[in-house]
Amino acid sequence: MQCTWLGHACVLLTGIQKVLIDPFIPDGSVVPLNPDLVLVTHGHADHLGETVVLKKTTITTGEIAQYLTAKGVPAEGMNIGGTITQNGVTITMTPAIHSSRIDDAGTQGNPGTAAGFVVRMDGICVYHAGDTALFSDMKLIGELYHPDIAFLPIGGRYTMGPNEAMIAAQFVGAKIVVPIHYNTWDKIAADPVAFKTAIERTTDLTVKILKPGESIAINL
Ligand code: NI
Ligand code: MN
Repeated sequence: MQCTWLGHACVLLTGIQKVLIDPFIPDGSVVPLNPDLVLVTHGHADHLGETVVLKKTTITTGEIAQYLTAKGVPAEGMNIGGTITQNGVTITMTPAIHSSRIDDAGTQGNPGTAAGFVVRMDGICVYHAGDTALFSDMKLIGELYHPDIAFLPIGGRYTMGPNEAMIAAQFVGAKIVVPIHYNTWDKIAADPVAFKTAIERTTDLTVKILKPGESIAINL
């Protein structure tokens, strides 16, 4: 499986299917990526992104699915702790300690809660934490699903910062950790090199700092 970080929290998984998580890229459109499946962790604009424009099958919370369905997007709702298998891809929705809001003036109703995802495809397991604080049940995500790679926010202010993400990485236990959700804006400035150095000095985990658009191949 190929994992591509497109910037911010946007990750493309390419295997038996093209799975695009949180389709927001600050300086460009994600639409030409033409994914088979879109996953949305929560309603904030830097995660919902181009979901409405993409109009691909989208898996998200029940509340956001309802919003998307009204916009003509084929959306499937689920909730935290649940699992969906779609075209050979298994998706589990995980908790996230965060908020949610849909920034659409015409929108009424409850935007639901924020979440993360565990995605299993081609025998590889990926954890995308979404926007979240550190929480100790990340240990359970490690014990239950044994992710091979974890995408963790390190930007602080709205999510974990590097210190908390270091503990998160150890709780999840994925051998490869990719920092996300940092340096997109000044308010989420963080030093990924310091994060990498600190983790690799104290654990046997590897931190891969990707440039936007850069991929890492994960093989069985
Ligand atoms: Ni958010
Ligand atoms: Mn965010």
